Amino acid sequence: MVISAKEMLQQARAGKYAVAQMNINNLEWTKSVLAVAQELQSPMILGVSEGAGKYMTGYKTVVAMTNAMLEEMGITVPVALHLDHGSYEHCYKCIDAGFMSVMFDGSHYPIEENVAKTRELVEVCHSKGISIEAEVGSIGGEEDGVIGMGECADPDECKKIADLGVDFLAAGIGNIHGKYPANWQGLSFETLEAVKAKVGDLPLVLHGGTGIPDDMIKKAISLGVAKINVNTENQLAFAAATRKYIEAGKDLEGKGFDPRKLLAPGAEAIKDVVRTKLELFGSVGKA
Ligand code: 13P
Repeated sequence: MVISAKEMLQQARAGKYAVAQMNINNLEWTKSVLAVAQELQSPMILGVSEGAGKYMTGYKTVVAMTNAMLEEMGITVPVALHLDHGSYEHCYKCIDAGFMSVMFDGSHYPIEENVAKTRELVEVCHSKGISIEAEVGSIGGEEDGVIGMGECADPDECKKIADLGVDFLAAGIGNIHGKYPANWQGLSFETLEAVKAKVGDLPLVLHGGTGIPDDMIKKAISLGVAKINVNTENQLAFAAATRKYIEAGKDLEGKGFDPRKLLAPGAEAIKDVVRTKLELFGSVGKA
């Protein structure tokens, strides 16, 4: 079904649930995510980072693979392909390659430059029917072994970016990518409420969906979060299942090395993560 990411999130916002953005890295991940979205009749956003796009040989390959899989797997639930944390240049690459949705992450620029670049990209995207997410307040994470604490966005800066007509907004509320450190203070609901008061019904995005306690996820959804991104949890599940398979010596059984068998436990593990998240986010049956 073709509905834009914007419509998906508006419906989620109104219905008080969140659409999952599951990041994809290869064919197996995409297949697992799509299969569960269809099984649970849930809308789905497939996130593609710049690194994942490069790994898959480029954005055109990702578009072609996804479109072919939607057809050949008989997927009828709404699915949108979305650039995750795109630079200015890569937003244009994805627009040219046929993405339906992009995130422009200008959070590292001074706010005026973030505003100028976001304004331009909003115009270009909307003239082509593409949805656009913007970011205010950098979302931290592990870099070179050091875990940076997530920033809390300035609500007035959020309003400036929201007023440009972006379709959804990632506002930092203390969330970070990857594993949360033991001394993490939790999400700042104070910031989330202040942002919501400034941007009204604009759907908000929560990055760093791995490792946030369930009650915080539910509270964030009740306060306007309509999209939650998950990547690390799928990576961890994939790695653990693959390691278990190899440690049991199963890769050496039968007719020798078969990548389809080697990758199967990881693909199943991803399905389990996706099922759990869709239940938690409340998007089951919302397709
Ligand atoms: P995690 O890797 O922490 O799940 O975050 C994913 C994300 O926010 C992608 O933008």
